[in-house]
Amino acid sequence: MRIDIISVIPELLESPFAHSIVKRGINKGLVDIHLHNLRDYAINNYGKIDDAPFGGSAGMVLMIEPIDKCISKLKAERNYDEIIYMTPDAPVLNQKTANSLSLKENIIILTGHYKGVDQRVRDLYITKEISIGDYVLSGGELAAAVLTDAIVRLLPGVIGDEMSALTDSFQDNLLAPEVYTRPAEYKGVKVPEVLTSGNFKKIDLWLEQNALERTKKIRPDILP
Ligand code: ADE
Repeated sequence: MRIDIISVIPELLESPFAHSIVKRGINKGLVDIHLHNLRDYAINNYGKIDDAPFGGSAGMVLMIEPIDKCISKLKAERNYDEIIYMTPDAPVLNQKTANSLSLKENIIILTGHYKGVDQRVRDLYITKEISIGDYVLSGGELAAAVLTDAIVRLLPGVIGDEMSALTDSFQDNLLAPEVYTRPAEYKGVKVPEVLTSGNFKKIDLWLEQNALERTKKIRPDILP
């Protein structure tokens, strides 16, 4: 899979992809991530990429021309399955969306800044808009990092234990059950006895019930 990310501050995206699971996906050749600095497509030699909004409200708006140039260059090189815009005024990311995006070949992620992008960019180029939650970040870069991480860890071969991405929270509309490790007792606090019983039938049942109880308590809204 190839992911192209267009940003005003691509430096913000370097560290999230230089470690752990995403790094492993890149090193194994399972994902190719390319960062593009929107300023390389500025409309003049001063690096102009934004301007004041028509109508006179506060803030700056990313102009259509640099984004058009960047997206058009990429589209001339290959076909893209989705051109995604990260923005708070969009449907919120969930596991289902991450699952479906992980099946794509090539995607572009455009990150906004300031007051966002000229609406014509959204109307003409964007095929999908995603928010990572009902709060406003200073820019879309961290949101793009979140989306990329959620996608890349699902690519077959990226996570060592193939099962583990499938047993994550949300994969079956349930939160993950509690987990424990050694020691079985710490300062008098014991792990649930069933987990050290060696009875895998009982353990599976306990995990299922624990997941259901936690979901009812913490996130009843995701239960089918
Ligand atoms: N840009 C700013 N805030 C955002 C959010 N919550 N989700 C996605 N992109 C954003």
